[in-house]
Parts: sequence; structure tokens; C-alpha cells
Amino acid sequence: MNVRRSLFLHSDLRRRPYDMLRSMLAQVDPDTPPHGPDGPVAVLERRMASVLGKPDALFFPSGTMAQQVALRIHADRRGRRAFAAHPQSHLEVWEHRGYSVVHGLRCHPVGDRHRLMTLADLSSVAEPLAAAVWELPQRDIGGLLPEWDDLVAQTAAMRSRGAAVHLDGARLWEAQTYYRLPFAEVTALFDSVYVSLYKGLQGTGGAVLAAEADVIAEARVWRRRLGGDVYDAWPLALAGLHGLDTVLPRLPAHREHAVAIAAAINADGVARAFPDPPQTPLFHVHLPIGPDAAMRAADALRAATGMELFGRVRSAPDPDRCSFEVSIGENAMDLAPDEVVTHLHELLRHAT
Ligand SMILES: Cc1ncc(COP(=O)(O)O)c(C=O)c1O
Repeated sequence: MNVRRSLFLHSDLRRRPYDMLRSMLAQVDPDTPPHGPDGPVAVLERRMASVLGKPDALFFPSGTMAQQVALRIHADRRGRRAFAAHPQSHLEVWEHRGYSVVHGLRCHPVGDRHRLMTLADLSSVAEPLAAAVWELPQRDIGGLLPEWDDLVAQTAAMRSRGAAVHLDGARLWEAQTYYRLPFAEVTALFDSVYVSLYKGLQGTGGAVLAAEADVIAEARVWRRRLGGDVYDAWPLALAGLHGLDTVLPRLPAHREHAVAIAAAINADGVARAFPDPPQTPLFHVHLPIGPDAAMRAADALRAATGMELFGRVRSAPDPDRCSFEVSIGENAMDLAPDEVVTHLHELLRHAT
């Protein structure tokens, strides 16, 4: 049976891509120039600079490219090659170490891989750093966020050592549902900020880097060098603008729904949601079965009911446990918390 309902496919754009693109394009004035200062890319860049409170912003085809470029610039300016980041940072885990292979940089992993970085962890790094990176929220440990005062103290401490402070804000939109501060107040802590167009904003891909104008001017050169100066990037920019207008205001509701689902899962007790309450629309569900059993059970559940709970699982040190990520987007909003619990029971029944 095909997927009928999904806790995994975050946005409608993933489920009904062509319908969604058609309805988005129907809202665009046909006289909008695709390129130039009034085209969607330039409009998006100006809008992001303003939302993020930075003098300038630049579109990138991916966050992977945007962040490596930001770190390269910080490193070249300081004549230092190392940057500090959480051991489960996207840069360290998911990018085939592009920062090293392409840019000759070194990552200094900081702190415990299952916990947030602390000021003590950061202070214990003895080598001179070009930059330190905060991923807000820290996706691979359940979307945890440092408390605001901790973040302020940590970023100030790294700045005082001459390191640039960079924000992996792929999910800054989601993080704001916890901090409840204007975006510019959060980003003011950082020298450079990357945000994604296709996670919380539910666009079609792409990223934006925001920083001082001279950093962005240099980033533009690197974007060209790396082949990221995509000529017809306007559809991605349009989807990002659409996300800012229509999805961003919905994120507090997404987080509330995440809180309700996590509470229902933990009240039931068959699985465990973490953190509880979720700090953002993203959290993890820990299952009392191993990864292979979980994937087989998920296939069986989908075949029997059309319900998709997850697309992949994370293994755990205990081979009889695993976890999956939930990221509440428009698709999950019509799944009631007790329905999710019922599906988890069904899943575990298929695993036995
Ligand atoms: C926290 C984080 N940083 C960076 C990225 C990279 O973004 P992109 O897929 O646009 O390269 C991702 C993508 O999943 C991410 O989750």
C-alpha cells in the first residue's frame, strides 16, 4: 500500500510536489523578472538580511556549501585552520569532511556526543581557533537547545579568544519557537549565520548565508569558485519566500503539536520521546527494538495501513534499541497524539 499518512514526510511539498509548486507559482505576478535586483533571489537575500539583522546575505544552493565557505573565510582571515564544533555537528557527520578535503580545515570536536556543548567544554580547547560553530537546535541529539544565558556566555567566551562565532541555523526558524526572541537578537551573537530554505520553511532546497558585507563579498567569490552560482536559482528562492510568508508563522503551532505528541508517547510508555517537552518541532522517539527489526516493522505497518512513521532509524549503543526523528511540519499536524501512540503499538506488534 502506498503511503497515505506520514509522520516522516515533513511538508506537503514532499508529498504533493507538483500540486504545491503549481499553487505557489499561481501566486507569483507573471511580470516578476526571474533575474536581477527585482528577481526572487535578490528579493530573498534582502529579506533575509533584514530578518536576520545582518548587513548582507547571499543565496547558496546548499547549506553544506554555505557553511564551508563561511568557515574558510573565517580561517583565512585569522590564519588559523581549526574550528570547534559539537561531535555530532552536520559538518562533522554528514558532509564527508568537506571542510578538510576541500578547504584544508580541521574540526576540533567539543564535548560529549550525546549532550550539548558547555562553556567548560569550549574553554578546555587549548589550540587557537579560527571559529566555533553552534548548531541550533542540535539535531542529532533530539533537537536540544542551550539555555539563552549559556549561549550568550559561550559565544562571548569564544569571541574573546579571537575566534569567529558561526551559527548553523538550518533550523533557526524552529529554535525561535523556544527562545521566543526576535531573530536579529539571536543572530546578533554570531559573526555569520546560515539558514535553510527547505527544513522548517518547507521550500525546495537552498540556503542563505548572512554576515557583514565584506564577508558576503568574499563568500560570493567562493560560491562562484565552487560552482554554486546557479543561474536559474529563482524557483528555490520563490519557495523560500513562500515559506517565510506562509510557513514561518505556523512554526509555534508545529512546536505545540510536537509537545502534545511527545507527552502522549511518554504517558503511554511503550516508547520514549526525548526531549520531553520538545524544545522545537523536532524530537526523537526511542524504541525498545533494534534497528533492523524497526525497519522491517515500519515496512509491514506501511503495507498494512499506509501509515509511515519514519524513513530511517538511528542505532543505539544497546543493539536492542534504536530511535527515529520526528520533525513536525504540515503533514503531521493532522495526526492526533493518541493516533501516533496507536501506530507505535502497531509498529511494535509487527516487530514481534
Ligand atoms: C543542521 C544542518 N546543517 C546543515 C545542513 C546542510 O544543509 P544542505 O542539505 O542544504 O546542504 C543540514 C541538512 O540537513 C542540517 O540539518
